[in-house]
Amino acid sequence: MDLLTVSKTRYTTKAYDATQKIPAEKIARLLEILRLTPSSINIQPWHFFVADNDAAKQRIAKALVGKYAYNAAKVLDASHTILFCTKADIDPQHLDHLLSQDEIQGRFKDANAKQGQKDARAGYVDYYRNEKGDIQRWAENQTFIALGQLLLAAGIEGIDATPMGGFDEQILTEELHLKEKGLIPSVLLTLGYRSQHDFNAELPKSRLSAEEIFTQL
Ligand SMILES: Cc1cc2nc3c(=O)[nH]c(=O)nc-3n(C[C@H](O)[C@H](O)[C@H](O)COP(=O)(O)O)c2cc1C
Repeated sequence: MDLLTVSKTRYTTKAYDATQKIPAEKIARLLEILRLTPSSINIQPWHFFVADNDAAKQRIAKALVGKYAYNAAKVLDASHTILFCTKADIDPQHLDHLLSQDEIQGRFKDANAKQGQKDARAGYVDYYRNEKGDIQRWAENQTFIALGQLLLAAGIEGIDATPMGGFDEQILTEELHLKEKGLIPSVLLTLGYRSQHDFNAELPKSRLSAEEIFTQL
């Protein structure tokens, strides 16, 4: 399916068929597409928790209470749920780790190239931390690129999906010990197959018009 058709036909699934499981090879493919997400200076400031069984999904659903309770059934009935987390800070260890990964993968022809990459990354991190003053926002923006990538990939693979910002951050942080891991929870994504009773499947898409959102310069 071409990307325009996917963009028109994918939609936010509101109810899943709990009897259908995504095949393992398809999930592996989606996770590989997720891993390949691009990010600013290849900073990859993320970690993903994958829940594919009832016990794991129940842990995530603990955060879907009160005003977020409307999202609980999606997590419990979908085949898989992915929690997208963002690093709470970009520390020197992460930068060193990225640099050695670049080296292992053969990206430096000599020591100068390696130093250049090191300095460029450090410069950008310093800019976002000290000049723009909000490194966390910049880091989390990257995580949302990953969300967009996986949403489209799911559409191409014929998998239904629901991005969810509606969850209790504090409960999820405690349940998965995110603080100790230096992570903040950014967004949830359920993946699976729509229920035939999903009211949202039949509704037309609603978007602002091209005239309103594009300005030709
Ligand atoms: C970051 C983000 C958070 C969202 N949070 C929720 C949510 O908590 N629950 C929900 O049912 N839909 C959620 N949505 C779905 C949006 O409401 C939906 O994408 C939007 O209305 C456009 O509709 P479409 O995805 O069907 O094209 C979220 C979407 C995004 C991108």
